[in-house]
Amino acid sequence: MKIALIGLGTTGRIVAEYLLKEQVLTMVLCKKSSNKAGKDLGEILHRPATGIIVESIDNLEEKLLRERPDVLIDFSQPVFLRENLALLARCKVNVVTAVTGYSEMDVKRIKAVTRSGKLGVVMAPNITYGVNVLLAIAGIVAELQVDCDFEIIEENHKNKKDSPSGTAKKIAAAVLTSLSDSGGCVDAIPIHSIRSGDTIGKHKILVTGQYDQIEISHTAFSREAYAEGAHKAALFIKGKKGIYEMKDVFGLGMSKCKSVINKINKLNSGQCCCG
Ligand SMILES: NC(=O)c1ccc[n+]([C@@H]2O[C@H](COP(=O)([O-])OP(=O)(O)OC[C@H]3O[C@@H](n4cnc5c(N)ncnc54)[C@H](OP(=O)(O)O)[C@@H]3O)[C@@H](O)[C@H]2O)c1
Repeated sequence: MKIALIGLGTTGRIVAEYLLKEQVLTMVLCKKSSNKAGKDLGEILHRPATGIIVESIDNLEEKLLRERPDVLIDFSQPVFLRENLALLARCKVNVVTAVTGYSEMDVKRIKAVTRSGKLGVVMAPNITYGVNVLLAIAGIVAELQVDCDFEIIEENHKNKKDSPSGTAKKIAAAVLTSLSDSGGCVDAIPIHSIRSGDTIGKHKILVTGQYDQIEISHTAFSREAYAEGAHKAALFIKGKKGIYEMKDVFGLGMSKCKSVINKINKLNSGQCCCG
């Protein structure tokens, strides 16, 4: 497995450390005219030399064809994939993009390229296992609590560029889908965003009824959770074509949620749900 990484910011550096430990990182890219180009990755990570020299994305095609990574993990900004999607398809380099803040037009283009069978992409605005379990739970709770008010509160570090977070938007979409499948009629789920300090990522869903309230929350303690998710997604997308989400990577799709709901129904009807 050969992984290339683009983006050595707050999160990308942690991802680089993790991939080095897993011995799968073979190429690190940075934006044109970045002062990181030409330096050993170890110098940027404040550790001994790694032998991996960070390269700028000038002449990217030539560099990818030389190194031939199986997958590129992207922790940069939306502009990178916007400008290099066709080139990555030509070079047959699949992508895990953890980047948030893509426009609807960006997503349409990515879908079109993957549908034409030229590229495999994991779109991962929510890359940790814990957040994906939260998303699944949000869908289940919305199915069971159709008449409640749903609100999302998210907190992230003060330098985060997009607001609300990609994860908060995904939670809202999961709740809306479940509500409309269960006969609810809500147009939008309010999202409240807080940007302060170095908060790594907190998402809370408030489900408020007439007499009580449920709170479901996820807090990331370490950015290594992002690195672990990105590595899993890269292993998953190697050699595949098409567009996927992290729920596909983690096996948390509809059938898993339905099986949980079936278990709850069995418990409620007094039947044993083991076995
Ligand atoms: N999916 C998730 O669960 C998850 C988790 C964490 C972060 N993220 C997302 O990952 C992205 C990066 O987050 P971060 O906190 O690490 O941000 P950051 O600290 O601002 O780092 C961004 C990195 O991207 C590079 N970059 C900027 N423009 C570029 C371009 N045009 N081409 C190539 N590289 C470019 C920057 O290079 P310089 O350093 O040279 O300026 C920097 O290394 C954001 O979209 C964030 O929302 C997602």
